[in-house]
Amino acid sequence: MSKRTEIAQLLTEPKIGEQVTVKGWVRAFRSNRFISLNDGTCIKNIQVVIDFEQMDENVLKKINFHACLKVVGLLQESMGKGQSIEIIAEEVEILGESNPEEYVLQPKRQTMEFLREQAHLRMRTNTFSAVFRIRHAVAYAVNKYFNDKGYYYMHTPIVTGSDAEGAGEMFQVTTLDLNNPPKTEDGKIDFKEDFFGKATNLTVSGQLQAEIGALSMGKVYTFGPTFRAENSNTTRHLAEFWMIEPEVAFADIFDDMDLAEDFVKYLINYVLDNYPDDLAFLDERIQEEEKNLPKDKRRPMGLIDMLKFVVDNDFERITYTEAVNILRNSKPFKKGRFEFEPKWGADLHSEHERFLVEKKFKKPVIVRDYPKGIKAFYMRMNDDNETVAAMDVLFPYIGEVIGGSQREERLDILKGRMADMDIPEEELWWYLDLRKFGGAPHAGFGLGFERMVLFITGMTNIRDVIPFPRTPKTAEF
Ligand code: 4AD
Ligand code: MG
Repeated sequence: MSKRTEIAQLLTEPKIGEQVTVKGWVRAFRSNRFISLNDGTCIKNIQVVIDFEQMDENVLKKINFHACLKVVGLLQESMGKGQSIEIIAEEVEILGESNPEEYVLQPKRQTMEFLREQAHLRMRTNTFSAVFRIRHAVAYAVNKYFNDKGYYYMHTPIVTGSDAEGAGEMFQVTTLDLNNPPKTEDGKIDFKEDFFGKATNLTVSGQLQAEIGALSMGKVYTFGPTFRAENSNTTRHLAEFWMIEPEVAFADIFDDMDLAEDFVKYLINYVLDNYPDDLAFLDERIQEEEKNLPKDKRRPMGLIDMLKFVVDNDFERITYTEAVNILRNSKPFKKGRFEFEPKWGADLHSEHERFLVEKKFKKPVIVRDYPKGIKAFYMRMNDDNETVAAMDVLFPYIGEVIGGSQREERLDILKGRMADMDIPEEELWWYLDLRKFGGAPHAGFGLGFERMVLFITGMTNIRDVIPFPRTPKTAEF
């Protein structure tokens, strides 16, 4: 194999006058002379100039959209507009043909819906390659952030017997014959016969196990896939998504909020500092997309300006009770424009969260101290006995990106909460043991990885920031 130079490398350290070999996919072919080649290493293409009169006709006719080429040629400065260097081709080899009559992608703007159906090809487009480079960057930054701060990465199980969130939105894992399952005497399915000797499911969160880590190693985080069988066909829900869950011993809800704010700002800064070209491309893409919308439907700021705004400003911090009061005194509520009434004791709906973030405070908001009735069993009871030390971080356009809490470390109160919610103690005996033996105050949160990537890339549907989305009725690829 001849040595290949990656296009990102070529563009950062151009060795003018040298012979180079590049390999990549055709993004455009103009005037039978100029090929734009992209190899995925960066958003930019390299221009290849060919002499079609000298070229084998058989090769020439195969230089089609998204065909894969190897090009050997001389690198030189370009006279043309739009690029500083180009390759004068000496040899063009077709590595993989792409017959335009059969190929479903066309060199034009395609809808996101169409591209979703072609998820095996969409990564070759500018938009998706930029999105997935940034997705990688955010994942790397997550690990870097925690490693640099002395957290340990803990792998929590994917198959589990417990429902951490108590919401009952789990996918069952079984090897039983569904047509003929073994039954107990009282006619129920006998999970003792199942692979694990009990009923199991895919995890909805690694938190409960991460708490074990925090109460032995001090600070840990998990970062893995989580699964929720909620039938929410929205632009912000996936059935399979990735979650980052730090868990910290000796931390309270205020430490938790500080960590959450510092962490998400770090992630945004990391992408701003290291992926300016991809961000600039996505920023322009949004402006292009929105230019035909009426002004009040457009975003108030460009993508990069918005990201900078978020990292440069303190997040607003309010209690749930304050949030409800603000909502009840708001114009949209008084004019009957909310679909759901903001009422103390009820969950905040997306329209309420977006009002707080986009209209009232115009920046990310952290809401804390939610009513105990709408939150999970493990959240620490506040002194008022009505609210728990929970916090949600709300972002513009997206709503909740983080949900977290201080955990209930007092055994008797925890047992009482579990009893109230019909959670059997036998199921979580090990979780209770943590409170019995060397328990300590501790706190943590979960960041929805795709929601973060959604915000940073400015995409509008969560299905477009994960390579192969799983949603109700779709699990292709
Ligand atoms: O608020 P959630 O349900 O919190 C937990 O699971 C806690 N155990 C976290 C913890 O304290 N360690 O989920 C956390 C985040 C949400 O804020 C949201 O960003 C994301 O996970 N999320 C989803 N993302 C995509 N699709 C879904 N169906 C999601 N459900 C939650
Ligand atoms: Mg939540």
